[in-house]
Amino acid sequence: RYEITQRETSAEILPGVRTPLWTYEGTFPGPTIESRRGRPVTVTHRNELPVPTVVHLHGGRTPASSDGYPTDLVLPEKWHEPVSMHGMHGMGGNMRDPRAVVTRRIRDYTFPLDQRPTLLWYHDHRMDFTAPAIWRGLAGLHLVRDAAEEALGLPSGRRELPLMIADRAFTADGSLRYPALDRDLRTRPGVEEPYAAGVLGDVILVNGAPWPVHEVDAARYRLRVLNASNARHYDLEAVLDDGRRLDLVQVGADQGLLASPVVHRNLPIAPAERYDVVLDFARVPVGGRVRIVNRLGSGRTRDVMAFRVARRAADDSRVPRVLSRDLPSWRRSDAVRTREFSFRAGRMDGGHGWLIDGRPFDPSRTDVTTRLGDTEVWRLVADVHHPVHLHMVGFRVLSRGGRPPLPHDAGLKDTISLRPGEAAEIITRFDGYRGRFLFHCHNAEHEDMGMMANLEVT
Ligand code: C2O
Ligand code: CU
Ligand code: CU
Repeated sequence: RYEITQRETSAEILPGVRTPLWTYEGTFPGPTIESRRGRPVTVTHRNELPVPTVVHLHGGRTPASSDGYPTDLVLPEKWHEPVSMHGMHGMGGNMRDPRAVVTRRIRDYTFPLDQRPTLLWYHDHRMDFTAPAIWRGLAGLHLVRDAAEEALGLPSGRRELPLMIADRAFTADGSLRYPALDRDLRTRPGVEEPYAAGVLGDVILVNGAPWPVHEVDAARYRLRVLNASNARHYDLEAVLDDGRRLDLVQVGADQGLLASPVVHRNLPIAPAERYDVVLDFARVPVGGRVRIVNRLGSGRTRDVMAFRVARRAADDSRVPRVLSRDLPSWRRSDAVRTREFSFRAGRMDGGHGWLIDGRPFDPSRTDVTTRLGDTEVWRLVADVHHPVHLHMVGFRVLSRGGRPPLPHDAGLKDTISLRPGEAAEIITRFDGYRGRFLFHCHNAEHEDMGMMANLEVT
């Protein structure tokens, strides 16, 4: 059981200035929650922010009632009840009846966590306002563990580091800069939205700190990496002082451990994706540095963070050849149906929108119905980069561009990075819970501009 108060605060992120934030519990990122597989957790959220909020546990296998549907609001104190949920679309969620003041600012979310251990994250999910809410600080980590994973002997304790990577832009006085905070992103007549592609920052934060330098032992470390950026893609590599690169030994994906480790020289990570990687700093001379670099960045945005190898140390950790044996091995022939979805730009409400199959999100429309326990193949087609995320289920990547999946597609995923012009196939089994769930692009601006749809599991 946890209690989290959502409140405004400010923090010194850049030296010498204070940045106003919206936070979970006064910190950015919010408090890291650690849970055991199969042991349900209830988180009570109290909303002291000036706006309604929605909490979603990304990657959680959660019943619809606690999954953070975009119109299932935790209202702030003295909020005016919306006239109706239907019809909010395009209104930026601000349509309200001035007479009906309600106070419903406390809300329990219950997570069964009956799922493979992994790094989840919780973040805001309010309709039309997810991107600015996350940008202002509403994001935190949630680790699920179990005994089998702990028995593997992977680096742990001080040598396991959750890393939430997120870019932000700041004004001179330290405030976060966002193009249209709290305004409808879609309806500015006549203006081609400069941020239609998504909002980027020029400061890279890791766990809320700009370009941190972390001291490490000359030993293996397990990095639990999350890209919590609204729109920025990274292609990470670990570069030594002499220009050599350190192997990134991937042990897990969005939805937990791989079957066996995969070694990468560089690792692309799209918004909302997680990678669980082991780096061996024993290969670095004491006193040396390892810079984590984004190959897709330029200038300041090329650097992410650095490790300084401070001392020799004993290391009894290991990376076993077999990491897990419980990965689902769905085959094409298991699928009872195949569906196709396009993720493309389009026009909506007279402005720019991002659409799935030509339609913007409508909370009152059921886009897809499936039966609990059905296995399906989904073919996803993109115009530009779209990290596509499914709620409730994990999936496996079957193909990309008609070819076998890439090395970083290994394991069980909940977000797939579709590349420009690409078609990819995923396979999943809709087991878990009945009810209404979402799938959407996790470029947070694309999501707010309509690229989201409803999946009804019956
Ligand atoms: Cu990270 Cu629909 O969420
Ligand atoms: Cu999610
Ligand atoms: Cu997108």
